[in-house]
Amino acid sequence: HALIIPAQGWLQAAHPADWYRQMRSEAPVHYDEERDCYDVFRFDDVQRVLADYSVFSSQRAGEELTSQSIINMDPPKHMKYRQLVAQAFTPKAIDALAPRIEEIARELLEEAADRPDFDLIRDFSYPLPVIVIAEMLGVPNEDREKFKHWSDVVVKGVDIEAGETIEENLKARQTANQELAMYFADIIQRRAINPSNDMISTLLSSEVDGEKLTIPELLGFAFLLLVAGNETTTNLIGNTMLSLLETPANWERLVREPELLNAAIEEGLRFRSPAQSMNRYTKEEVELGGVKIPAGKEVIAWIGSANLDDAKFDRADQFVIDRNPNPHIAFGMGPHFCLGAPLARLEGRIAIQALIDRMPTLRLAEGADLKTVTSPIIHGLKSLPVVR
Ligand code: HEM
Repeated sequence: HALIIPAQGWLQAAHPADWYRQMRSEAPVHYDEERDCYDVFRFDDVQRVLADYSVFSSQRAGEELTSQSIINMDPPKHMKYRQLVAQAFTPKAIDALAPRIEEIARELLEEAADRPDFDLIRDFSYPLPVIVIAEMLGVPNEDREKFKHWSDVVVKGVDIEAGETIEENLKARQTANQELAMYFADIIQRRAINPSNDMISTLLSSEVDGEKLTIPELLGFAFLLLVAGNETTTNLIGNTMLSLLETPANWERLVREPELLNAAIEEGLRFRSPAQSMNRYTKEEVELGGVKIPAGKEVIAWIGSANLDDAKFDRADQFVIDRNPNPHIAFGMGPHFCLGAPLARLEGRIAIQALIDRMPTLRLAEGADLKTVTSPIIHGLKSLPVVR
């Protein structure tokens, strides 16, 4: 399964960019026997796999709770369900959250500011999105730590470096899945009796074709919002900050010209895309990049590679802080385009603006050990030690 067996090339490449470059030129649509799937690397092909749902289906069989949710549905069913939560994610609805997100960012930085070992991931970009989504869903404050723990384990890839096996990882994720499902079921029950102003309450009163959502459907939504939104946003902040700080002139320029912030975030999304790959399943035989893919095969669209494709982007292998236009596909393409994109962008903007305001002299800690997360889907740092 792609979620737990990373492509060998990914693991072996010193940096995925090197592997991607090689694959784009030598085997842009490549069958991997070991994983029994097709890897797709060029921008145009990746875009087609993500958007052309008539051939590339998002539906997969599986027992994970996210399989009950919109990310695994095809149109037309997909839209009926997606629109239930879409209202909570319009740019307008999201902008209304700005003051609260600013407050959370300020609090986290205040706590972190005096630590001698300030870790931008652990102390800032990791807790921020979890708190935000917990509040949106309606998770009470006092449950935050538990919630953070579960949401962490649920998305965690195999930690090969730490000696973890695929079986151990699977087991840990299953346990956390069950605990979190029971926890959500409890919240759902409480909101059914006592509705509040949160997303679980909204979903409880929603209907599709005149039918209320079932408990598995409600759980599917809650899980998806957690899984899709947390680590990705952590890494949007972490990866963009790494790109800025590893070339200090970039950070200094942003501090002087904060109006570049939006462009810098888009470039962070392109240059080190938080979600590197998404999968689909062929509904029929299809030809892609000169390769015939049979029906019923898993296809991996490497977003991380598409966004570094020099057939699409000038100076594709450089972080260009003021790149414009920047037609990256870090949030996907087509009907499944990331629902949380306005929220992720807002959190990224608020987080980095808070760092500009409060820590303008920020730099990477000397000799910082910048280990990346081992996951074929998520791209980001385990930690980002900084000094101010
Ligand atoms: C879908 C990336 C943040 C919720 C997607 C997809 C991508 C993506 C690539 C498309 C999946 C596909 O085509 O199969 C990202 C990145 C993020 C981010 C890079 C941060 C930088 C968030 C946040 C939320 C969220 C904050 C919500 C709290 C979703 C949902 C979907 C989705 C619900 C499924 C949409 C659908 O199937 O219609 N995301 N995401 N994402 N994302 Fe995000």
